[in-house]
Amino acid sequence: MKQVIIITGAGKGIGRAIALEFAQASKMHKGFKPALILASRTISDLESVAAECRSFGATADIFQVDIANTAQIERLVNTTVERYGSIDCLVNNAGVGRFKPLTEMTEEDFDYTMSTNLKGTFFLTQRVFGLMEKRRSGHIFFITSIAAEMAFKSSSIYCMSKFAQKGLVEVMRLYAKTCNVRITNVMPGAVYTPMWGEVPDAMKSVMMRPEDIAGPVVGAYFMPQRTSVEELVLRPVCGDINE
Ligand SMILES: NC(=O)c1ccc[n+]([C@@H]2O[C@H](COP(=O)([O-])OP(=O)(O)OC[C@H]3O[C@@H](n4cnc5c(N)ncnc54)[C@H](OP(=O)(O)O)[C@@H]3O)[C@@H](O)[C@H]2O)c1
Repeated sequence: MKQVIIITGAGKGIGRAIALEFAQASKMHKGFKPALILASRTISDLESVAAECRSFGATADIFQVDIANTAQIERLVNTTVERYGSIDCLVNNAGVGRFKPLTEMTEEDFDYTMSTNLKGTFFLTQRVFGLMEKRRSGHIFFITSIAAEMAFKSSSIYCMSKFAQKGLVEVMRLYAKTCNVRITNVMPGAVYTPMWGEVPDAMKSVMMRPEDIAGPVVGAYFMPQRTSVEELVLRPVCGDINE
């Protein structure tokens, strides 16, 4: 049977690396046949990640979805269930950040960040968890950040959104433990991805790479069903990069 795995923000960065890691996992885990549901707003990114996943023998389906839009979340979940019957794993990875001093943040920055990081993550989790609760199985990952529990001066709105995501993680644990669903909070430090834009070479050289996060995420998924990896904290070996 196929393992149905939804990955949001699968077109770039950490989400792309998680998709590729799952796609390659069938080589190491006998009987693992993933159906990867790749979601983001940019169809060309998704097409190229899907092609890479298929080259490893995985099934990959793409959905152009803005998770800030609840109607689009509904379409993603309903179509996935119609095509594949169920959802085994949700990777809440899609996220945005705008980084600048507090006094330069605008209402538009606030709404843009919160509508993806909070509203989108909440309503997609709510919808998928309802299905997992009925089946009494499933695994939900949240790619939050070390900024979910540490303050960074240029990340006021982003930090608020990530602290709030961590609040959702804690609430989800209360629900999940009664119905055999696993919840993993993934808190990376600085990872070199398109989210950072231009980065000086000296900084780039010490940052983690997306595959450094993807490996432990997929490792947590393959732990025995009786075991839940509750938290993964991953940092550059030199520590946090303060921006
Ligand atoms: N990079 C880091 O240092 C770092 C550290 C800690 C945590 N994180 C977290 O890790 C996650 C991934 O970050 P990343 O660095 O890989 O970012 P990225 O390179 O900018 O990729 C983000 C992905 O999310 C998608 N996305 C953004 N908003 C979306 C929306 N409303 N609906 C659907 N898809 C959306 C983007 O595609 P489209 O724009 O095409 O939709 C893209 O595929 C984020 O939650 C981020 O906060 C990153």
